[in-house]
Amino acid sequence: MNAAATTPRTGPAQESAPSAAPVFTVRNLWKVFGPKAERVPGDAELTSLTPTELRERTGCTAAVRDVSFDVHKGEVFVVMGLSGSGKSTLVRCLTRLIEPTSGSVAIDGEDVLAMDKNRLRELRRHRASMVFQHFGLLPHRSVLDNVAYGLEIQGVGKAERREKAAEVVTKVGLEGLEARRPGQLSGGQQQRVGLARALAADPEVLLFDEPFSALDPLIRRDMQEEVVRLHREEGRTMVFITHDLSEALKLGDRIALMRDGRVVQLGTPEEIVGSPADDYVRDFVRDVPREQVMTVRRAMRPLDPDSAADGRGPAVAPDATVSEAIEAVARSGFPARVMDEGRCLGVVDQERLLGVVAGVEPPPPAPTLPSASAPPSASAGRAAPTVPAGSAAPSAQVRQAEPTRKPPAAGTSAQSPTTGEGRPSAAGKATPPPAAGKAEDIPGEVTA
Ligand SMILES: Nc1ncnc2c1ncn2[C@@H]1O[C@H](COP(=O)(O)OP(=O)(O)OP(=O)(O)O)[C@@H](O)[C@H]1O
Ligand SMILES: [Mg+2]
Repeated sequence: MNAAATTPRTGPAQESAPSAAPVFTVRNLWKVFGPKAERVPGDAELTSLTPTELRERTGCTAAVRDVSFDVHKGEVFVVMGLSGSGKSTLVRCLTRLIEPTSGSVAIDGEDVLAMDKNRLRELRRHRASMVFQHFGLLPHRSVLDNVAYGLEIQGVGKAERREKAAEVVTKVGLEGLEARRPGQLSGGQQQRVGLARALAADPEVLLFDEPFSALDPLIRRDMQEEVVRLHREEGRTMVFITHDLSEALKLGDRIALMRDGRVVQLGTPEEIVGSPADDYVRDFVRDVPREQVMTVRRAMRPLDPDSAADGRGPAVAPDATVSEAIEAVARSGFPARVMDEGRCLGVVDQERLLGVVAGVEPPPPAPTLPSASAPPSASAGRAAPTVPAGSAAPSAQVRQAEPTRKPPAAGTSAQSPTTGEGRPSAAGKATPPPAAGKAEDIPGEVTA
């Protein structure tokens, strides 16, 4: 999350380096709905069929297809994709609200698929709380009692649960409204109650299934900021489903982009926008203002010791956005130096910054060695690797991406200025990405 780059963490995430053991470990996960679903994952012929062919041949829908990923402690892991791409199914499989067909899911190394009923209940109540779009508040109970409900079913005594609930109610900005019934609240306030209820149980992971999609854009932004704050201040681990690209870019440390049940790319927002894995992803992110997502690392070249201008420019942090660097360069008239703890990693000049904006990132600088035919390795270690625009990052490589903090938000932040619908509006384009895989038969609530 953006602010995480600049704000020291005070919560549990502080103990966790990116290399810490993952909270969730998902491997080769399949969920197939339909008759004799279990034969599908292992059958090479069936798995090679398109979703329509598979449905026609077998009556089955492969909602999640061979998905593998880790969710690291303290990160916001976003699952994004069009309607019907398998997001809800995937996230529900994590706590077996939907039973996976095959593959493995572990939480803190414990096999979720081997859990008995009691252990599962404990998992859902204490370790991984879900916040739904329709938050399912109890209409005849007060805000406070709704928030305390999760603790009640955990068997926490009345005084203690009310005290804890009051604390969380304040945390989500609902103080003063404790005695109201849900019907006396706005949609946004109700969503805060839903969030507070999930938080009251102090779960290790919060799972959000499109929690804000029913809210109007302003309230939605408020709630997004609430999530950012919770993440920043408490280091909460979150898995957040959305079909809204701007929401994904704003909230996600990493984003898994789904299509037809598969994760087509998994990476940081910068990787997804800067190195789309295929044409589908490229089309998806086409209208994102690149300068607000990409960092100066993408535009860097080595400092030229013979250039007077290179040493005179302003300093920017390695996670500064290209947009921030453009401003710094424009104001000073010199290339900006990318500084990390007193060390100059390189410089960014106008040409390179504009190249990133235009999606025409320059090639790595020519080697300073005299030989024009020097092998590519001659420049190794000199330049920060830039990924040429349009080059597809192999998804295997992207899948290895460690969680990295997003660039600091500057003023209006790195969120993309999209419409409330989540469709990028920068280029005045309002068409959605290709609708392949869009299901006509989207369920409301899926069950096992
Ligand atoms: N219980 C079910 N029985 C049969 N098919 C199902 C069931 N639940 C989901 N599906 C199918 O699985 C696919 C993925 O559905 P899922 O609800 O996971 O999508 P989603 O990405 O969450 O979509 P949305 O954005 O509309 O919520 C869809 O094709 C859907 O029709
Ligand atoms: Mg869904």
